[in-house]
Amino acid sequence: MQTPIRFVMGGQVQEVVVTDTTLTLLYWLRGSARRPGTKEGCAEGDCGACTVAIGTLAGDSVTYQAVNACIQFLPMLDGKELVTVEDLAASDADLHPVQHAMVTEHASQCGFCTPGFVMSLYTLYQTRDTAPARDEINTALAGNLCRCTGYKPIIAAAESMFSLPAPPLNRR
Ligand code: FES
Ligand code: FES
Repeated sequence: MQTPIRFVMGGQVQEVVVTDTTLTLLYWLRGSARRPGTKEGCAEGDCGACTVAIGTLAGDSVTYQAVNACIQFLPMLDGKELVTVEDLAASDADLHPVQHAMVTEHASQCGFCTPGFVMSLYTLYQTRDTAPARDEINTALAGNLCRCTGYKPIIAAAESMFSLPAPPLNRR
């Protein structure tokens, strides 16, 4: 019998038997996992619409990295934590500060790119306690494309996300 891969998603350990080792994380998320918040744009690692956060245990803490789910094979998740846009808000009225800042700054128009931007900003949010400098924001968002907003309101959201109340400790 094939050994399943194991990873954490939604606060639970998931066990998945992978029969096709070239199945991408994006296809698995949007299909079997029923998590369609992660979008498919280019499907070749260029647009950032499919961005998710991957957590890796390092000592006593978890460090997060934004990755393109369309070019990540599912077996690469073994032993990691996966965070998708569905994990961030407790409810529509209880958004993560990153999402709240995106709303406040009117940083979404058609919305197709928005989950990817949210997850890149979420990963940046996890790396620090204070507002990031402009060059750090530019670096964090370098892999995300938006054809509607002109980027200015998204950068404003990144600059203001730490001025909003932090999520409770038992949430992300
Ligand atoms: S869908 Fe464009 S980078 Fe993944
Ligand atoms: S809001 Fe339309 S592509 Fe970004």
